[in-house]
Amino acid sequence: MPVISAPDAAIRDVVRTIATDPVMLFDSATYSLRRRTLAAKVGSGLVILPGNGGAPANYPSNCYSFRQDSTFRYFFGLGQESLTGIIDADSGREWLLGDDVGIEDIIWTGHVPSVRELAAQAGVENSAPLSALAGMVADARRTGRPIHYLPPYRHDITILLSELLGMSPKETVAAASVPLIKAVVEMRSVKTDAEVDEIERAMHIGYLMHTAAMKACRPGVTEKSIEGLMEGIAMTYGQMVSFRSIVTMHGEIFHGSPSLEKLEAGRLLLVDAGAETVEGYCSDNTRTMPVSGRFSSRQRDIYSIVCDCHDLTIEKARPGLKWMDMHLDVCRLMTERLKDLGLMKGNTDDAVAAGAHAMFLQHGLGHMMGMDVHDMENLGQKYVGFNEEVQPSDQFGTNCLRCGRRLEKGFVMTDEPGIYFIPALIDQWRAEGRCGEFLNWDRIEEYRSFGGIRIEDDILITSDGCRVLGRERIPYRPREVEEFMAASEP
Ligand code: GLY
Ligand code: MN
Repeated sequence: MPVISAPDAAIRDVVRTIATDPVMLFDSATYSLRRRTLAAKVGSGLVILPGNGGAPANYPSNCYSFRQDSTFRYFFGLGQESLTGIIDADSGREWLLGDDVGIEDIIWTGHVPSVRELAAQAGVENSAPLSALAGMVADARRTGRPIHYLPPYRHDITILLSELLGMSPKETVAAASVPLIKAVVEMRSVKTDAEVDEIERAMHIGYLMHTAAMKACRPGVTEKSIEGLMEGIAMTYGQMVSFRSIVTMHGEIFHGSPSLEKLEAGRLLLVDAGAETVEGYCSDNTRTMPVSGRFSSRQRDIYSIVCDCHDLTIEKARPGLKWMDMHLDVCRLMTERLKDLGLMKGNTDDAVAAGAHAMFLQHGLGHMMGMDVHDMENLGQKYVGFNEEVQPSDQFGTNCLRCGRRLEKGFVMTDEPGIYFIPALIDQWRAEGRCGEFLNWDRIEEYRSFGGIRIEDDILITSDGCRVLGRERIPYRPREVEEFMAASEP
């Protein structure tokens, strides 16, 4: 078993915090200013921002790793469980609601700051027990004041809101506050320099994870052992992984779970994984590598297309560009190159307009990233990634693009093109005769068991272009990957 050593001084400098206790990233003034800005944008009414509680895995006291709600943390900074923030947008008054723990809990958990102390850390003047929430909401309802909350995604919060607001749990998502959603999206979409620094820390942990995976990748090793290696690094230097790691020889399964299958020479291994810092910011990278350490010529051909699509995004992404247009540009380049390999045919613009490229690229070019790996996805993609100018597509493939609107300075996006050969999709489209004028079925059949390739990096939109995040680049050009793997052989 590889041993993960304690971080040395250089890594500690980059990762900064190795604490297990929740850490506030900024000082209280930053969070106070964010809350005042939010209140001004919402205008009037009562804003309820529930933090998360523990989520039981198999019995109440055995919970999944705790994950704070990102929006609560963005506005209050606190990583502790079972707190709720309240902002009165009219008066400007704020409360932190939570229940102090007694000795019965402290013997299990150690010291926990009081809710009043936590409120002071976050710059919140008032604190009260959670039971105060019902009275606050009832008063607001009685006087006809707007009550703003975000779409709930956890069942306990859904039930709480349904009881407070007198509606069925199913109605709570649709009744969420659009002004609040829009205000939060506006604020969280643009990352400050300090937030980007924090994402850089997550990128560094991601670099350690991915290079460890690339070194460990060889025939006979199981997918799960590579997952374990990477997740150990994420937990050693950060909080945890930013999503369940994808480690699979079946790269054509987008979110394929790692199995106990042993890696086989001649196949590709797709590794899509990221870290989350203890302060709650994410990274998300994908690399695809040859298990034997050398790409076959067929693998190299497909890999080179994905690589060029990835590079096109870095070359072109800039403020003002519609991400939908960037996605379609990548689809056109991919189509051109697949025509060179004889997999596609016909007019490139027509093929992309018909959605024929989605035989090979069935997901979007990339998504926003920040405190959530799919940033703010719980708020609804139509608000996060689209607007009146750019609406979501309903065409297969492009309908999975999570963001289409114009890029702005400070956006952090993933750049993650891929090419996949999905046997069930090949069979279905071929049987339907779908896009037959653009697809060479006999040639596609030759690739039926190819699998899939994705390359993913994270980019910051700057004033005149973009910057790839991460001080160190995980090897990604075919030769870099091969050389790195050769240098890592035991
Ligand atoms: N990296 C996983 C995803 O973007 O869905
Ligand atoms: Mn991603």
